[in-house]
Amino acid sequence: MVGVIGSTGTLGRALMELMPNARVHSRRDFDLRNVKEARPFLSRFLNGLKVVINAAAYTDVDGAERDPVSATLVNADFPKVLAQVCREMGVRLFHVSTDYVFDGQVGFYYEDDYPQPLGVYGKSKLLGERYVLEENPDAVVIRTSWLYGPGGRNFFSRLPLMLLEGREIKAHDRQVSSPTYAPFLARTILKMVEKNVPGGIYHVTGRTPITPYQAAVLLADTLNSTSRIVLYDPGPSMDIRPEVSVLLSSRYRYEAPSFIGSMLEYTTRLKSLP
Ligand SMILES: NC(=O)c1ccc[n+]([C@@H]2O[C@H](COP(=O)([O-])OP(=O)(O)OC[C@H]3O[C@@H](n4cnc5c(N)ncnc54)[C@H](OP(=O)(O)O)[C@@H]3O)[C@@H](O)[C@H]2O)c1
Repeated sequence: MVGVIGSTGTLGRALMELMPNARVHSRRDFDLRNVKEARPFLSRFLNGLKVVINAAAYTDVDGAERDPVSATLVNADFPKVLAQVCREMGVRLFHVSTDYVFDGQVGFYYEDDYPQPLGVYGKSKLLGERYVLEENPDAVVIRTSWLYGPGGRNFFSRLPLMLLEGREIKAHDRQVSSPTYAPFLARTILKMVEKNVPGGIYHVTGRTPITPYQAAVLLADTLNSTSRIVLYDPGPSMDIRPEVSVLLSSRYRYEAPSFIGSMLEYTTRLKSLP
């Protein structure tokens, strides 16, 4: 049996759709900042599980600068305890991380490239990766980028609906990465679980490196949207974000969907909602 920590998030929801009978954690069950109580919670939650997927994280990049304590508790300290308890209980851990562990100067990164995060979010996620693999070398750490899908609140999650409604879209072109559709990532993680891949770091993303502005223009064109796309300057918010953080995979072969392919799948799904 599989357990999902962070089942209410963008990735968590996608995982739960594929595994409706998985054991579920949400914030109501346990606040991950309460690291001192994590051991007793995990002993109960992990009991009888073969695999646990940690899809929970403090993902607010700007919020993490204001509240580094919460970001570090959720993204680093909790995963450390999780990795320890998984090792002790013989539960395979799949932990999710981010392209924000890189500074974005080199641009295209393999799993073994040197990480150098710019902001608190990236630093806390890198610390989490290191704790997880130190405590539990058999754990699998999956880095992804620009995750979007049903229930998501970020730019890419909201883009199709805004275009369908003809609303004005402000987008910048100061970052390049590969948007990743959460249901695709969820499917890939479950395949990796099935294949029992060796422990270590893996990169899994969509296939198309793109900027938010290019993405908005391309999707607007594909959907024949009347939306006006306005290019804006993100200013100092770029100080804590990698400029080019395209992740390349050398450790695991998977069929990554194109940006437009995934976005059309997502748009069709949004249109079918009441
Ligand atoms: N979003 C992206 O663009 C992106 C890009 C690269 C990598 N990633 C990584 O991908 C993974 C999944 O991200 P996501 O976009 O699915 O995240 P998300 O939508 O922000 O969901 C985060 C999940 O973590 C839970 N959580 C956060 N703080 C918690 C706390 N103190 N106690 C209990 N639960 C807590 C949230 O619960 P609530 O619903 O109650 O808040 C939610 O279930 C993360 O590891 C993230 O770092 C994300």
